[in-house]
Amino acid sequence: MKIGIFTDAHYSSQKVTCGNRYNSRSLKKIGEACRFFAQEKCDLVVCLGDLTDTEDSHEKEAENLREIAKLLRETPVKTVCLMGNHDAFAFEEEEFYSILGGCRPEDLTENGCTLLFLDACYYKSGQHYAPGGTDWTDTFYPHTQALKEKLAGAAGDIYIFLHQNLDPTVREDHRLYNAQEINGLLQADGRVRAVYQGHFHPGSSTVSGGIRYRTFPAMCENESAYFIEEI
Ligand SMILES: [Fe+2]
Ligand SMILES: [Fe+2]
Repeated sequence: MKIGIFTDAHYSSQKVTCGNRYNSRSLKKIGEACRFFAQEKCDLVVCLGDLTDTEDSHEKEAENLREIAKLLRETPVKTVCLMGNHDAFAFEEEEFYSILGGCRPEDLTENGCTLLFLDACYYKSGQHYAPGGTDWTDTFYPHTQALKEKLAGAAGDIYIFLHQNLDPTVREDHRLYNAQEINGLLQADGRVRAVYQGHFHPGSSTVSGGIRYRTFPAMCENESAYFIEEI
């Protein structure tokens, strides 16, 4: 199975933010990535979050997301978008997926493999991120019991997708508050082959406890930051 992956497009009308995020250029890059994935005959496209960035008005944020949705609709490959902290601080989940016209992550079993999509846009209090929030360093995955059950019932090799980081070598402020607990569950299963993440813009690649942790470099900070993983 061929999976096209990109992350951290941070698309907005700003030319540059934080010194090295070229926000407005990302729409063109998303189109380029989608065309590449279609040409390479990918079976699935996954955006690992932070698709959008903040504007002065929510109307403009929604307009930006509609522009992205148009590109994704034109791509003849099933596409899944995880929400990143930037998306969840601008959109309610319902609005985000309704504008995208689908793309909601649902766990998949394909080719004898299981793909699990985790939402770590939660504060450690257990409350989900909501529009107006800003504290991206408070990130947590509260559904550990459900994850245990999913792992127990999963078929074949398992691949995990999430926005924030489980990679134990990535800066602590980017990692889930309960990363150690989640990694313990994933490593104990013995069938988790890889964890795919965004959020940490420079990217990273680590093997720990028999699992490959791959953090993809941010699209807004790089040229040609789109990748194919074969599983
Ligand atoms: Fe980001
Ligand atoms: Fe992020």
